Amino acid sequence: MRHSQNRRLVRTAISALLGAMVAATAPAAPLRTSATARGFFIGAAISMTPFRGETAYVQTVQREFNMIVAENAMKMDALRPSASQFNFADADALMDFATANNMAVRGHVLVWHNQIPNWLRNGNFTREQVIDIMRDHIMNVVGRYRGRIVAWDVVNEAISDNNGQMRTDSFWFQRLGADYIPLAFQFAHEADPAAKLYYNDYEAEGSGAKSDAVFNLVSGLVAQGVPINGVGWQMHKINPFRISSANTSNAQRIANLGLEISITEMDIRIATPSDATELQQQALGYGDATRFCLATPACKALVTWGVTDRISWVPGTFPGFGDPLLFDGSFQIKPAYTAVQTELEAGMQQAPATPTGLTATPGNAQVALSWSPAARATSYNVKRATVSGGPYTTVGTPTTTSFTNTGLTNGTTYFFVVSAVNAVGQSPNSGQVSATPQATQTPNFTLSANPASVSVARGASATSTITVTRTAFTAAVGLAASGLPSGVTATFNPVSVTGTSSLLTFAASATATTGTSTVTVTGTGGGLTRTTTIALTVSGGGTGDGGVSVTAFVQANSPWFNEEQVRITSTAPLTALSITVVVQRTGGISHSGQYNTVGGQITQSNSSTATAITYTFGLAPGQTLGTGNGRIFAAQTSGTGTIHSTTADTFTVTYTTGGQTFTQSGHF
Ligand code: XIL
Repeated sequence: MRHSQNRRLVRTAISALLGAMVAATAPAAPLRTSATARGFFIGAAISMTPFRGETAYVQTVQREFNMIVAENAMKMDALRPSASQFNFADADALMDFATANNMAVRGHVLVWHNQIPNWLRNGNFTREQVIDIMRDHIMNVVGRYRGRIVAWDVVNEAISDNNGQMRTDSFWFQRLGADYIPLAFQFAHEADPAAKLYYNDYEAEGSGAKSDAVFNLVSGLVAQGVPINGVGWQMHKINPFRISSANTSNAQRIANLGLEISITEMDIRIATPSDATELQQQALGYGDATRFCLATPACKALVTWGVTDRISWVPGTFPGFGDPLLFDGSFQIKPAYTAVQTELEAGMQQAPATPTGLTATPGNAQVALSWSPAARATSYNVKRATVSGGPYTTVGTPTTTSFTNTGLTNGTTYFFVVSAVNAVGQSPNSGQVSATPQATQTPNFTLSANPASVSVARGASATSTITVTRTAFTAAVGLAASGLPSGVTATFNPVSVTGTSSLLTFAASATATTGTSTVTVTGTGGGLTRTTTIALTVSGGGTGDGGVSVTAFVQANSPWFNEEQVRITSTAPLTALSITVVVQRTGGISHSGQYNTVGGQITQSNSSTATAITYTFGLAPGQTLGTGNGRIFAAQTSGTGTIHSTTADTFTVTYTTGGQTFTQSGHF
């Protein structure tokens, strides 16, 4: 007696000390505050006697938990005192209390081999009658609270403890066989399609035959399309208990089935009397379970099987054990409470991560921003500057990961960063992006040529770059050239421009027309046509005529003699040469004489009787005519009377020099 009084004193002192530490270091809010902020459920099973009669009990529940479950009040024996009667008084009171206090409710339990009313157990009903009773029970109970219960334990403890088989001594199994399980889920789903439907059991949280059997059972149900949503881990544990990799891998395989998990009835019993060391050990187990559940996306809730150590099923069920919960007999918090609280608040005490992936898309007087979610963020600060690097002004505080900043000035470049925010504080800024809003633009393009004046020598080529300047215009632009002098070709590379430029090449043949002409480049695309012009000069001199000058000369000794001369000066040897002089016949004058000043390399002939007399001079095959000045090739006429007019007489000189062939022609 004395001994246990001392222990109680020690315990009180320790919890007072812990209470002070918590107050000094952490926000130390009630459990439901941080749980709610994280979208998590921290719950307790409610016993009707203290619920109806103890203010401290009710206040503790109201303050600390955002989920409750009836410890007994929704079991079949409580709800169905007789075959014809339902008694919803306690269950309704709990539901109303939860609603008034903004708490979620777990429904426990629809089909279990324990706490079945005697009228059913001893009633000698047929299989069909038992199915009807089960259906009627589920329809009435689940239907009554339809939409108000987040999760129902539909079937409880169907697996045996020793061999991983079905529990064959169960009332339901004996009357209906294994079918009772899918039937129960089907009925519950019909009664409330929104409620999460659970299979609930104990000692199936980690590895072993029972865990495997539960896993196989729920896998089979999922495979058959039975409407099951979750697995409840009761978690009735003995101190010292720790979460292990067996729990995490079991959770993973359950989650892989698409099912959720809840810790539905947690307690950690200690051999009594407990001491401070054991209470600290117990706190480790509770801390583990909380951390595990928070870190496991499939794990939705942690419910303790009671509130205070003074009111627990443990001492009655496991003689010699007790103190399994978060509050002591005086509703003082235990180390276990602080461990749960610390874990619930751990995630909340960290500032959020820095947002990444920020992009900015300019629009008309606005910029649309989006980014990737940052861990632990509850909202974001969107900040803007008109100078790179800031200083920034916050222009928006969205809770989602996108924001459009409006009312901006077109043509101004803006710089943006985003930081993440939560109750603890603000992350550093994200990387900066910039954008320049623009008035909505009409699609257009223009062409320009650089250079806009191009010279090309005969026999050579020259280029100009055609630039396509686009404004909100994305179509391909097809290019063409017109107004080319004869003997000049234009080639575009590319001819269809999807980018911003094309290289235009002019190639002049050896006989291209010399002089300057205006070439028009036309671009066509997207329903638009645009042009630019190039002044193209084709030059005949220099390399354009191969360094050969050809002049016409008339040597006259009128009225009886004319000599029409082609004089050739070449600065490079000619490897081929052919000269044709055409003279119009004139009455009274004879035509036939011809000579050259080159000599035997030249063959020559004429057609003395034709209307137009053709004189030809040719370089003999295999011969080369070296460089020289004013070599004469002459067509002669002679006679008396009227002098022969030379104006209609022409010459054509074709020659090859430097591997290229040139033609020059003219008249006398
Ligand atoms: C227990 C209650 O806590 C006791 O008050 C009652 O006398 C018996 O049942 N698994 C379950 C719970 O699913 O319903 C049990 O609750 C504990 C074990």
